[in-house]
Amino acid sequence: MDRKSYNQRPRVLISRPIQQAVIDNISEHCEVRVHPLDEAMPAEVLTQAIRDVDGLMCVGQRVSKDILEAAAQLRVISNVAVGYDNIDVEICTRKGILVTNTPDVLTEATADVAFALIMAAARRVVEGDRYVREGCWSHWQWNAMWGADLHGKTLGLYGFGRIAQAVARRGRGFSMRILYLARHRADERIEKELAAEFVDGETLLRESDFLSLHVPLTLETRHAINESHLALMKPSAYLINTARGPVVDEAALVRALQAGTIAGAGLDVFENEPQVSPALLTMKNVTLLPHIGSATSETRLRMAMLATKNLLAALRGEIPPNLVNPQALQSGSGSANRSSRV
Ligand code: NAP
Ligand code: GLV
Repeated sequence: MDRKSYNQRPRVLISRPIQQAVIDNISEHCEVRVHPLDEAMPAEVLTQAIRDVDGLMCVGQRVSKDILEAAAQLRVISNVAVGYDNIDVEICTRKGILVTNTPDVLTEATADVAFALIMAAARRVVEGDRYVREGCWSHWQWNAMWGADLHGKTLGLYGFGRIAQAVARRGRGFSMRILYLARHRADERIEKELAAEFVDGETLLRESDFLSLHVPLTLETRHAINESHLALMKPSAYLINTARGPVVDEAALVRALQAGTIAGAGLDVFENEPQVSPALLTMKNVTLLPHIGSATSETRLRMAMLATKNLLAALRGEIPPNLVNPQALQSGSGSANRSSRV
């Protein structure tokens, strides 16, 4: 992109104040506006702001059909996340707006959080911390805070993509047995390397001591874990969710935890974030995190840099490396705009 053609530089909206070095990088090529607050832009504010931009760097922001209707010249939404259920991709495709995401760079960080939740659940880490802080610890007890072993236990993975496989590797390191369920069976090589066994849903639910969720949120996976599924789990089992809140029927999970149908849960995501079912807040056997799967300084930088690469490629009229809706390349208005301005 040519810095001399200043007036013709694409306009980009960044929906949160991300790393300054990344903003500076984009500013070398584009006219950049940054929403100054680290919180989601209200829909009416985004609707106004999106009217005259060519690119949206989308950070923790819902982009609905109504907002997209206002986006007269938008060519790309570069989502700074691997999941893109926050964006109405179908409308984008129809309008020729390219949507991109940030896979791979956050896999290990998110797998770490899933495993941290597994360990916290098994060894009552958060409960123990609270017990000490609250001055409840008067003397050492043989009988206190018994948890569950990890080694020898069964780790069930729902979804077996990048993050699930990274969790499986951690599970292997802890001598766990690995079961998984996905739409497609993994390569024999991967199954062998991870000693992972492809099973049906009922086996996954019945045999997992720790069931960790790693599917994207889609129409198919919404409430994929419901009351009847929870009822099949062992009373000693834990549910771990770092995928998306609505993959689990949260009300059913609360009932299962209250009834002792399962032993506990570790949750980084919730059905109505940032709201959490009040009952969960009172449960000692549940570890709650504020959706921080990818939140390390290294990973967040890699995500922002990859999102920049996607954004700038799309604005140059190239096919971005992490395009999630290639059908948009065929759509009318967006592709007509695509080759202009840069
Ligand atoms: P990925 O590599 O695409 O893996 C997704 C897996 O889900 C694949 O194995 C896929 O299987 C499976 N799947 C999709 N639809 C399914 C269905 N209907 N039934 C069964 N399995 C299904 O994605 P990833 O990079 O691992 O990320 C997974 C998700 O984690 C993201 O979509 C995002 O929502 C979430 N995430 C959360 C955080 C966080 O901060 N908590 C951070 C990063 C990601 P097939 O290949 O057989 O379709
Ligand atoms: C985070 O939740 C992501 O999908 O990257």
